Order: sequence, then C-alpha cells, then structure tokens
Amino acid sequence: MPDTITLIDDRTGKTVTVPITDGVFPATAVRDLDPSLYVYDPAYMQTAACKSAITYLDGEAGILRYRGYPIEQLAEKSTYLEVAYLLLNGELPTDAQLTQWKADVTHHTFIHENMRKRFVDGFHYDAHPMGMLVSSLAALGTFYNDAKDIFDKGSRDKQILRLIAKTPTLAAMCYRFSMGLPFVYPNNSLSFPGNFLNMMWRVGDDYEIDPRLERAMDVLFILHADHEQNCGTTAMRVVGSSQADPYSSAAAAASALYGPLHGGANEAVVRMLEEIGSIDNVPAFIQEVKSGTGSRLMGFGHRVYKNYDPRATIIKQTAYEVFEVTGKNPLLDIALKLEETALSDDYFVSRKLYPNVDFYSGLIYQALGFPTAMFTVLFAIPRTVGWLAHWQELLADKDQKISRPRQWYTGVGVRDYVAVGER
Ligand code: CMC
Repeated sequence: MPDTITLIDDRTGKTVTVPITDGVFPATAVRDLDPSLYVYDPAYMQTAACKSAITYLDGEAGILRYRGYPIEQLAEKSTYLEVAYLLLNGELPTDAQLTQWKADVTHHTFIHENMRKRFVDGFHYDAHPMGMLVSSLAALGTFYNDAKDIFDKGSRDKQILRLIAKTPTLAAMCYRFSMGLPFVYPNNSLSFPGNFLNMMWRVGDDYEIDPRLERAMDVLFILHADHEQNCGTTAMRVVGSSQADPYSSAAAAASALYGPLHGGANEAVVRMLEEIGSIDNVPAFIQEVKSGTGSRLMGFGHRVYKNYDPRATIIKQTAYEVFEVTGKNPLLDIALKLEETALSDDYFVSRKLYPNVDFYSGLIYQALGFPTAMFTVLFAIPRTVGWLAHWQELLADKDQKISRPRQWYTGVGVRDYVAVGER
C-alpha cells in the first residue's frame, strides 16, 4: 500500500496525490487542487497546525511522554525544574547543567516592587486570582523592553527564565492580595515548589514545609508542565505567531486556560462535588448529566484521551499520599462514587469518557489548603514552561507564519446602504 493519498475534485476531475507521513498529509494538496477551496474544521478536530517534538500523546492508549520519557517515570523520579529543562532543551540536564539551571531560575524569582505595590494593589478586593495572574503576566512584560527581541537567543532565554521563575511569585502575590495578607518575598534557599508554598503560607516566621507536601506539589507541577496542542498552548502559538513578546503570548495562553472547559475544570469539579454533597445523590446527578438537563460531569472526558488520562492515575495515587499528611478530603468518597458510577454506565463508556487530569487534582489542592479560586493558577504555574517550549519551537520552525485561518462566509450578499431616517 503506498503511503499517499489522492484527492479528486469531482467538479473538474483534477486529482492531486500527496504523501502521508506519520498519519498526516499536507493541506496544500487542497490548494493544489483548487486555490479557492478550503477545508472546514472548527476547533481543529482533524487539523495538525504544527510539527512538534516536545510531547507525545496517544489518546487511545492513554500514553503521555515528554521528549520521549513516560510521564510515570518523570513523576516518580524527576523534579519540576529538571522536567522544565527537558521540555525546553530536548534532553535531560547533566548534573552540572541542572545545578546551573536551578541557580539561573532561582536568580529570577523576585519581581519589580511596582508590580506588587502599584499594579496588584489596584485590583478590586474580590478580584479572581486567575484574572489577576492573566493581567500580571502581560504587565510583567512591560518591565523588560528586551522582551521584544524575540529572535535574539540571549534575550529569548532570559525571558524564559524570568517567566518560569516569576510566575509562582505572581501567583502567590495574587493569592495574598485576595486574602488581604502581606506579600512574602521569595526565599531562594528553598526548592521551586518549597519556595512557592512558603510564599503562599508563611505568616511571620510561622511556616514549616512538610517534605511530603513539597514533593506532592512538585509532582503536580510535573504532570501539568505540558500537554501538546491544548487550547492554552494553541493560544500561545497563535499570539506568538504574530511575533508578540512572550509575556503577552503567555497572558493569552493563561486566558485560554482560565475557561471551565480547560484549566478551569479543576475548580468546577470541586464546586460540583460540593453541590452533590453526598454519595447518595450521585445516581441522581449522573442521571441529570446524561439527560442533558444538568451540567457536564466535570473532570471527565477529553478531546484526545479516549482512555484513562495517565495523569489522573498518578494524581489519584498522589492524593492518597497527601491525605496521609492532611487527613482525607471529605469530597473524596463522592468523587470515587462518581467515577465508579460513570465508568459502569454505557453513556460514559460508549463515549469513552474517563477521568481527566482535573478530576482529582482539585481534591489535593483543597487538602493542601488552596481555595478553589487558586486551582487554575496552580495549573498555570507549571504550564508556563510548556507554553514557552512551544513558543521557542514555533520561532525556530521555518514552516510557520502568522496564524490566519480562513472562514466559511455564511452572511448575506451585497446590500445597498439606506441612510438613517430613510429606513
Ligand atoms: N460529561 C458528560 N458528557 C460529556 C462530557 C462530560 N464531561 N464530555 C463529553 N461529553 C459528551 C458530549 O455531550 C458528547 O455527547 P454526544 O455525542 O451525545 O453529543 C460527547 O461526549 C463528545 O463530547 P464533545 O463535547 O464533542 O467532546 P470534546 O472533545 O469537544 O470536549 C471536553 C472535550 C474536555 C471539553 C469535554 O469532555 C468536557 O466538557 N469535559 C468536562 C470539562 C473538563 O473536565 N475539562 C478538562 C479537560 S482536561 C484538562 C484541560 O484541558 O485543561
């Protein structure tokens, strides 16, 4: 069987044959057939918008790998900063490279005082932390005019370091503002997750990091670091394709992540579990989901996974480890019952709807003491590296141009304007 595909335009009889590589054929075949012909693919269901060597995802088999390394191995043995290096550079760091990388990131954890005193202080007292983070990411770029030098590798590397290092600081700052608590400066003697936990929870001298919770935080960061062409990363690439600076692009990516069908789902899961309230109410809730009269079963289903999301398996296991320290989250029983009920129900089985990364992550975040409004922020912190790895790849990709899809115009034809008063 040849690895080619032949398109035939039945209107003209013209044919175009193009190669199929790794299951993909170039859409230029359609242009070659007829330059005025377009494919209609809302939500990019069947479209590969880029080549990428960063993350491999097999949704049918439930496989996720960063640069070839299975997510299970990285979650068990690695650290977030090591994974960040891997995603950006394609290889695991040597000992010396890792030491240097950690030092470089740590060097950039502080933010300009104006960000804190003047910018964040201007938010309304009940501003959502994720909305604050989105705006802070864009604002941060205004402090670095060299951010616009995106084709200068030195400048690019520096912005990458700044964004990875400062996002936890911005996140903690947004949280503390929303709680009316004083800002805690970064402590550069701590690990990446340890520093974040310290900025979140320290009151005076009163905070001791439990190493088991610090590790759980790091595992959650690893699991959320990248997930190929999801909505947020696509936003990063689309905005990045206009050659905007990476802070503006990251703000766009974070905005996409904010939505309840994307990173906002972890917050929605906990609200859903709280509304269900008891395992006795689970069957009725599932019935409502199936009939379409209720909401969706949040934390279930995925555009790509048609199997158990491997991150959900690890998160479920991590949840039990966290609960050993914090005590069990009372919502866990409802979540387990929901999962059991859904996975034995034909509605979910036939549609291949399984728990995704957000189903159990909220329970851990809640057990760690984070308010629900912070959940998507916790997703954004590690995803920053994924966005940046894709941004870097985009800039080096000679196939890429400014993103500019076409439309299928369904409006009316030409009309004659009639002036006001004569209509
Ligand atoms: N509960 C109930 N039914 C669902 C769900 C769900 N969570 N997800 C999909 N379906 C049904 C949907 O109604 C449709 O049924 P039918 O064929 O009868 O119309 C079918 O399954 C296919 O759904 P779809 O909306 O066409 O699938 P999609 O690939 O466009 O959506 C999704 C993917 C993640 C947006 C969706 O599964 C969903 O809304 N899930 C709940 C929100 C959620 O957990 N999001 C987090 C995703 S993972 C992390 C991330 O991306 O940040």
